[in-house]
Amino acid sequence: MNLILLGAPGAGKGTLAPYLIEKMGGVPAVSTGNILREAVKNQTPLGVTAKQYMDKGALVPDEVVIGMLQERIAQPDCQRGFILDGFPRTIPQAEALDKVAHIDCALSLEVPDEAIEKRMAGRRVCLKCGATFHIENNPPKTEGVCDVCGDALVIRKDDQLDVVRGRLETYHAQTEPLKDYYGAQGKLKSIDGTQGIEATRELAAKALGL
Ligand code: AP5
Repeated sequence: MNLILLGAPGAGKGTLAPYLIEKMGGVPAVSTGNILREAVKNQTPLGVTAKQYMDKGALVPDEVVIGMLQERIAQPDCQRGFILDGFPRTIPQAEALDKVAHIDCALSLEVPDEAIEKRMAGRRVCLKCGATFHIENNPPKTEGVCDVCGDALVIRKDDQLDVVRGRLETYHAQTEPLKDYYGAQGKLKSIDGTQGIEATRELAAKALGL
């Protein structure tokens, strides 16, 4: 299955992905946010361009991310299915994706903006492996240390409240219309993402028939 995770910033896409990877037999989850953050960390030409947009909470231009994503899903590990986390974010991205892959389902995690703001305030991430934690809802075993790879956990620059509000505005204006796009294709499934992490997993598995 080729699956898209839709949802506002902080809706829980990255938290749900590892569970779905396991349920879907180890298919890769491709997070454009993680790919871009890695490029920023390594100061590659892509990272230098992307940083200007990411720090402000704006979307990186379509022409930059579309090529990057197409290259990633052309890799052999994506041939038996994939999960997209953070792509597409605009209608042109969705149209470009439709030209190179068949999408089976877009799963939208529905979380209101007020709940998102609270979640982002407590998020901690590992920039090395991309794992995500929350100081109350999903704390790491050792404070400040990634359970998965042992690297230090940090607060993302774009998790400051003013940037989060800008990202939510961008989401409503540019990404939320994708629900209609996939709805019109009969591929949209929506679940309540405000429940706990475990409950959200169960809702997702049920919606996807996993
Ligand atoms: P990206 O990294 O994709 O960020 P995002 O979509 O804004 O999503 P997040 O990673 O912030 O949230 P999430 O839904 O994964 O939530 P999480 O699981 O962490 O993109 C970053 C930037 O890169 C963009 O702003 C843009 O500049 C650029 N970019 C990326 N892709 C692009 C594209 N395609 N086009 C253009 N630009 C692009 O959860 C959040 C917190 O809540 C965590 O602390 C978690 O522990 C907690 N939590 C999760 N689920 C629950 C639950 N059910 N109950 C309670 N707490 C929960």
